[in-house]
Amino acid sequence: MPDNIYKRVAFFSGQSIPLEMHKARMVQRIYLRHIKDRQEVIGKAGNNTFLLPNRDVFLDMLTDSGVNAMSEAQYAAMLLADDSYAGSETFYRLEKTIQEVFGTEYYLPAHQGRACENILANSYVKEGQYVVTNFHFTTTKAHITRLGGKIFEAVGEDAAKTVSSNLFKGNYDMDKFKSFVKETGVENIAFVRIEAGTNLIGGQPVSMANMREVSEYCRSQGLKLVLDASLLADNIYFIKTREKAYESKSLAEIVLEMSSLMDIIYFSGRKLGCARGGGICTASKEEFLRMRDLVPLYEGFLTYGGMSVREMEAMNVGIKETLDIDIVSQTPLFVEVLGSELEKKGVPVVTPYGGLGCHVDALRFVDHVPQTEYPAGALAAAIYLAGGIRGMERGTLSEQRNPDGSEHLSSMELVRLAIPKRVFSLSQIMYAADRIGWLYEHRHLIGGIKFSDEPKTLRFFLGTLVPVSDWQDKLVEAFLKDMPSGL
Ligand code: F0G
Repeated sequence: MPDNIYKRVAFFSGQSIPLEMHKARMVQRIYLRHIKDRQEVIGKAGNNTFLLPNRDVFLDMLTDSGVNAMSEAQYAAMLLADDSYAGSETFYRLEKTIQEVFGTEYYLPAHQGRACENILANSYVKEGQYVVTNFHFTTTKAHITRLGGKIFEAVGEDAAKTVSSNLFKGNYDMDKFKSFVKETGVENIAFVRIEAGTNLIGGQPVSMANMREVSEYCRSQGLKLVLDASLLADNIYFIKTREKAYESKSLAEIVLEMSSLMDIIYFSGRKLGCARGGGICTASKEEFLRMRDLVPLYEGFLTYGGMSVREMEAMNVGIKETLDIDIVSQTPLFVEVLGSELEKKGVPVVTPYGGLGCHVDALRFVDHVPQTEYPAGALAAAIYLAGGIRGMERGTLSEQRNPDGSEHLSSMELVRLAIPKRVFSLSQIMYAADRIGWLYEHRHLIGGIKFSDEPKTLRFFLGTLVPVSDWQDKLVEAFLKDMPSGL
């Protein structure tokens, strides 16, 4: 792993500690429940961390979506919002920022990332057509398959390897991509999508060089290239710190260059911009017009797209702040701390460390739990038991069943411990590493889980499950021996 050049303030002691370039001026009280209460709570939540009430969660590492800490400048901007249904100044301010940051003339507002995916899928995907992507995201895939479309994934083999030295595991495998296009025919491909950074394979980035190759090939074939920029902040940080040619480029230059390679860019403003919204940007009037009419139909009038003007103001400032290295470096640096602390304790995590969060490899952590008993789901429940920490299953549970009803076993079984920007202190990160380290020493006690209620679509959100045995009782018992306070 290259030593990170953005640990800019060196400790005289030689310790490798990322220093926060912000201070907390408003905080939220959180509570750590007794382990017996945690067992009751996770049972009531159907062993699904999505269904845990936040009051019972100590460290909420479910996601960074909509829960990044906002800056004082974002809060201040919210007071200046121009609240009107049509033509608000707030919209024009946001549109201008998008034009400057992405260099795209047109911006369609939408209430969040999946709303953009709905508009994109409805505008471009015909039944039977493919969307080629480096790796799918849950909601992206659901919108495409709902319309009879199909997904082809063109990441390289390293992407599914949890241990790797490939610094850009999100990259397209160009040979795989090109032969798929040749076999399938351009007319059967609705669009090509790059998710940068990637979500489900562990926050892994895509290099600029790879995006350029994909773009040049798409342009030579007349294929439309779409960028999912939801995790852009992490990805531009990794381009700057891992891709030699970009070391001395500013983040603003990196975004503009990336943007020039794309036909359409969309994003979840719950991630990018640290607010709650989203949008689609394009330099092409033709693409803009093709999608435009769906915004008032599904989202709201063209100058708010389902967002409150206050959130739009916050997003406006948040997107500009994404160009500040001291702001975008915080998550990847904390991911690195959590990853390396866990590795010191032998816990298997995805490497190289990515953005978004630290990803624990459940296939290696609980290698005795079969994939049909959802090892990552079981581990996520166990992590809540061991520390009141809420992570997210990213494995077979997050997949859809095959059309014949059989399980679609995921290529990876991960528990994501998201690190929302500027939310947690370093001691909380150390606590998480400690409790997961404890759990690793007692991993043989962890068993599988099975559905008691399984929804047909996006089952991971609302499905409820039960343990296949009394393993949770045994785990609680062991915890109380080592931590008699139950905390
Ligand atoms: N694309 C990517 C890469 C995402 O990570 C997400 C959301 C979306 C699209 C959808 O955006 O939630 O605003 O509708 N990811 C969240 C997560 C849910 O927790 O990783 P949304």
